[in-house]
Amino acid sequence: MDQFTIFGFFIFILRSCSGIQHEEDYLKFPPGFSIGSASSAYQVEGAWNVSGKGPSVWDWFTHKKDSIVVGQATGDIACDSYHKYKEDIAMMKDIGFRHYRFSLSWTRILPTGLPDKISQEGLQYYKDLIDEVRRQGMEPFVTIYHWDHPEFMTRLGSWTNELMVQYYAEYARVVFRELGSRVKLWATVNEPEQNCRLGFGRDVHAPGINLPHFGEYLCLHNYLKAHARAYHIYDEEFRAEQGGQVGIVHLCEPFFPQPSDDLELKRIGFETGCAWGTYPIFSKEGNYPQVLRDRINENSKLEGLPFSRLPEFSPEWIERIRGSFDFLGINIYTAREVRALPREANGKWPNDFGVELIINETWPENNSWLRVVPQGMGEILRTIRDVYDNPPVYIMENGATSAKGFKDYNRIEYLYGYMKEMLLAINRDGCNVKGYTVWSFLDSFEWSDGYSDFFGLVEVNFSDPKRKRTPRLSTKWLKQIMKKGRLINIKDIGQLH
Ligand code: NOJ
Repeated sequence: MDQFTIFGFFIFILRSCSGIQHEEDYLKFPPGFSIGSASSAYQVEGAWNVSGKGPSVWDWFTHKKDSIVVGQATGDIACDSYHKYKEDIAMMKDIGFRHYRFSLSWTRILPTGLPDKISQEGLQYYKDLIDEVRRQGMEPFVTIYHWDHPEFMTRLGSWTNELMVQYYAEYARVVFRELGSRVKLWATVNEPEQNCRLGFGRDVHAPGINLPHFGEYLCLHNYLKAHARAYHIYDEEFRAEQGGQVGIVHLCEPFFPQPSDDLELKRIGFETGCAWGTYPIFSKEGNYPQVLRDRINENSKLEGLPFSRLPEFSPEWIERIRGSFDFLGINIYTAREVRALPREANGKWPNDFGVELIINETWPENNSWLRVVPQGMGEILRTIRDVYDNPPVYIMENGATSAKGFKDYNRIEYLYGYMKEMLLAINRDGCNVKGYTVWSFLDSFEWSDGYSDFFGLVEVNFSDPKRKRTPRLSTKWLKQIMKKGRLINIKDIGQLH
């Protein structure tokens, strides 16, 4: 019996013994399962220069005269959550959420970016926010860094410069020391691969370094080291006293092989996708997946380079990064199909990875760029279970955009489909998922899309200086789910008002 068959057999026995047989039973949330919603500092806080906060790379990127952000929008005010956080948290409590995931603004805590000066006012804001989340009976799930590092670091190449590892580690140490008594769940960094692709391989996110097949590899390399440094700092200096957990949040979307029975291609799709950032941490052997190393090394050689464009980890770093987790946080929105591309005439692998990603046109469209592929949720969770030996997983972002206004039926349908696949993966297939987080709580600054994409369960009126909030229908649906402890199809609860 191979590993998978043994696992399947074990799950079969477990199911038979626990009496779970029907789909209805599968739709219950397991005991202790946490459902919440999320935001990030730059996307919601505003107050960009209040209380001595230093400029972040996104302040700089959006204030540039030639800003590429839709409508030249900025996060200067955003949802004004810096001032309105109590109102937001009261609404979350009303829905019945169990956790709130938010991020810290690096330069609100360290105005210069370095620990020479700590802003007591900045820290107080986060202490108050965390205390309020707790007071309302929810667990704060704190992302230490969500893309908004200090601006000056951009001039040093930001994540392409290894100095970032130390800068980030020093910042994380301050955060653990100052806020750690209040927080049990930490995510070191958010979606490093996406930040590296869009901000370092391309120019659509800050800092816009635009070095394809180069910048993003250096960037992720340093991100992984920074994550591991923070994890070990927590482990060695704070864990015994604070007793929390530290993980990382990756974008892990499923790539379905085409043809669908090509298992080798399925593996390559995973290893050049989700595994680029997760394999070094969650696999038994550590380091980047072999196929990724081989193909980029081969391409670099054929280009006449005396080194690989994919940086190498030393054996010490492989060891430090490997196993540096208490959980895996994943963000999932959509899916792709993956096709193998043959080598070019000169022997090179097209796109470095030798695969292309495509959208299956039969997948339904939602309201914006993302195709609705709920089966992808189960697919990626089972792959993580099998490849990484079933680590604890938190879904840290899942959600869809809706049109302006209150009636977000398309969001309800989307969330229902994805949550259902997640519950099947947990209750039927034994995936070790501990929590689920809707992105996002509020409509917010959607990076280069400015305020043109609405991910919020709660609508925000950005032309109103008071940033009036209006909960959408989906909040009522979620409230029912939270009350009943199981997923409910909107058809089964009649009209929502
Ligand atoms: C992932 C990012 O973490 C988040 O900041 C962003 O708003 C969502 N994707 C939606 O694009």
